[in-house]
Amino acid sequence: MTTIRDIGWGKIILLGEHSVVYGYPALAAALDRGVMMSAVPTPAGGPLRIDIPSWEMRVAAPGVFDEPGQVRHHNTITETDHPAARGLAAIADALGAGRPSVSLVGDAQIPPGAGLGSSAALAVAVARALARYLRLVADNATIGAAANASEEIFHGTPSGIDVALAIAGGAGVFRKSTGLRPVPGNALRVLVGPSGQPRSTAEMVARVAAETGGKPDDPRLRELAALTDAGTTALVGRDLAGLGAAMDRAHAVLRELGVSTPVLDDLVTTAHAHGAVGAKLTGAGGGGSVIAIAPREREAAILAAWRAHDVIGFVTTIGGHQ
Ligand code: MEV
Repeated sequence: MTTIRDIGWGKIILLGEHSVVYGYPALAAALDRGVMMSAVPTPAGGPLRIDIPSWEMRVAAPGVFDEPGQVRHHNTITETDHPAARGLAAIADALGAGRPSVSLVGDAQIPPGAGLGSSAALAVAVARALARYLRLVADNATIGAAANASEEIFHGTPSGIDVALAIAGGAGVFRKSTGLRPVPGNALRVLVGPSGQPRSTAEMVARVAAETGGKPDDPRLRELAALTDAGTTALVGRDLAGLGAAMDRAHAVLRELGVSTPVLDDLVTTAHAHGAVGAKLTGAGGGGSVIAIAPREREAAILAAWRAHDVIGFVTTIGGHQ
C-alpha cells in the first residue's frame, strides 16, 4: 500500500515582516522543505491526533468527554491543551470533520518555533491530510481558512502570509488585501541560520504595536514597505547587491523596532564578515532565524562561521520549485 503524504511548505520572509501585518507588501518564499502528513486510520477507536516524532509532538484534539488537558486511550495519555491540539480541533471544526478516529503522522523537515513558518506548514499539512482522508472537496481557499483558524490559536492575529506560502509554495509578494502574487525570476540560493532561541510571534507583533502605537503610517513601517518594493525589483532584475542592501537596512529597522536580539545581530555580522551581500532576521524575530545571501563560493565559510556559534545553518533554493 502506498501512503499519500500531504505537504505544508515552510517559508522565509526576505523583506516585509511586521509591516505586512499593517497591510504593506512582504516578499517571501517557500522553503524547499516543510511538514509532510499521512492519515493513518485507527479502527480500534481513539481520538483524532497528531504524532510528529521529530518534534516530539503527540497531541489529540480536545473532545467533550476529556479530562482537562489530556485524553486517555489504551493507557496512553495525550496532551489536549497544547496549541497544536487546539489548532487541530479548529481545523477539524472549520472542515466540518467532527472527531474521526485517525492519527495524522508527520515528518517535519523544519525546526519548530524557528521563524520558518512551522505552525502554518503543520496546519496546512493537517488540513490537507484530514480533508483527503474524509474525501472532502476542499479547495485552497477552504484549506487556507482551516489553517488560518489554527494560526489564530498559535499567533493571535496573523497576516496570513505563512499559510499562503505553506499552501502555494514558490515565491511571491503577499498583501493582506490581495493574497500572494508570484514573482517571476530564477531560483535564488539563500542561507538560513536557525538561532535556536525560542520566540513568540504574538509577543513580537505586540512589541511592534507598542513601539508604533499601532499606526500604519509610522515611518519605520513605511520604510520597511519601501525596502520590500526595492528588494522585489532587485530580485526580479537579479541585482543581488540591491537585494542585499535592502535586507541589511531592513534588519537595522527591525532592530530599531525592538525585535532583534544580540544573538541574531551577531549571526548577521558574522555572515557579513564571511562574504554575505545581505543578511537579516526573518519572521517575527525575538529569536528564530537569520537569512543571508552570498556569492556561492562564500556559502561554506558562512555556514562554518555560524557553526562556530552553535548554529547549524542550511542553504535553501527559493523560487525554483513552482
Ligand atoms: C510572519 O511569519 C511574521 C510576522 O510578519 C507576523 C505575520 O505576518 O503574521 C511578524
